[in-house]
Amino acid sequence: MSESILIAPSILAADFTCLGDEIRSVTEAGADWIHIDVMDGHFVPNITIGPGVVASLRKCTDLPFDCHLMIENPEQYIPAFADAGSNMISVHVETSVHLNRSLDLIREHGAKPGVVINPATPLQGLRYVVEELDYILLMSVNPGFGGQQFIPSTLKKLRDLRALLEDLGSDAMVQIDGGIGPLNAGEVIDAGARILVAGSAIFHHPPYEDVINRLRNSGS
Ligand code: DX5
Ligand code: ZN
Repeated sequence: MSESILIAPSILAADFTCLGDEIRSVTEAGADWIHIDVMDGHFVPNITIGPGVVASLRKCTDLPFDCHLMIENPEQYIPAFADAGSNMISVHVETSVHLNRSLDLIREHGAKPGVVINPATPLQGLRYVVEELDYILLMSVNPGFGGQQFIPSTLKKLRDLRALLEDLGSDAMVQIDGGIGPLNAGEVIDAGARILVAGSAIFHHPPYEDVINRLRNSGS
């Protein structure tokens, strides 16, 4: 496959007793982005990382930080996550009532905006915001936890998204998140994913370099 594939380890599956070392290890192992899952206990039934932790982790790597906000009222927190050193920030269509405003806010604070959609959310809502975003994240599990099973209908959704982006003449990058590992990475790449988020498949299966290379080279 000619288009390069980016691998974004999700630190949700890392060993939190040594998070800095984990980030250094995946950096050395060839990761492209660091995926940071931010959960508020409201939009999703789990609580994870705030901007203070992101700012501390910023010292551990030069790789881009990709903050996936699974929080209600994302506009309230976008400035803090941007100021903490996030290079990309994605917001869910399901949480962002004024999506254009959220995307503008992310850009105004110097980060690249992305939009995330849950497995059951239709793609059509993206049609009118595509020009304002840098990447689209398709969830392949319902957000809230790592280690869940990939939802197979995501493959059709990836193909539909690719067709929609072609129709719109958009070069927005397509990211996939949830249950991604060596067994399905080839299928999602072939269906149109360019950025693969993987948590348990990387952090629970060292050596990290081997699994990152395997994921990256899975497409046909
Ligand atoms: C789920 C998160 C994912 C998750 C991925 O809500 O957005 O990023 O950490 O973990 P795995 O790869 O283990 O499914
Ligand atoms: Zn995520």
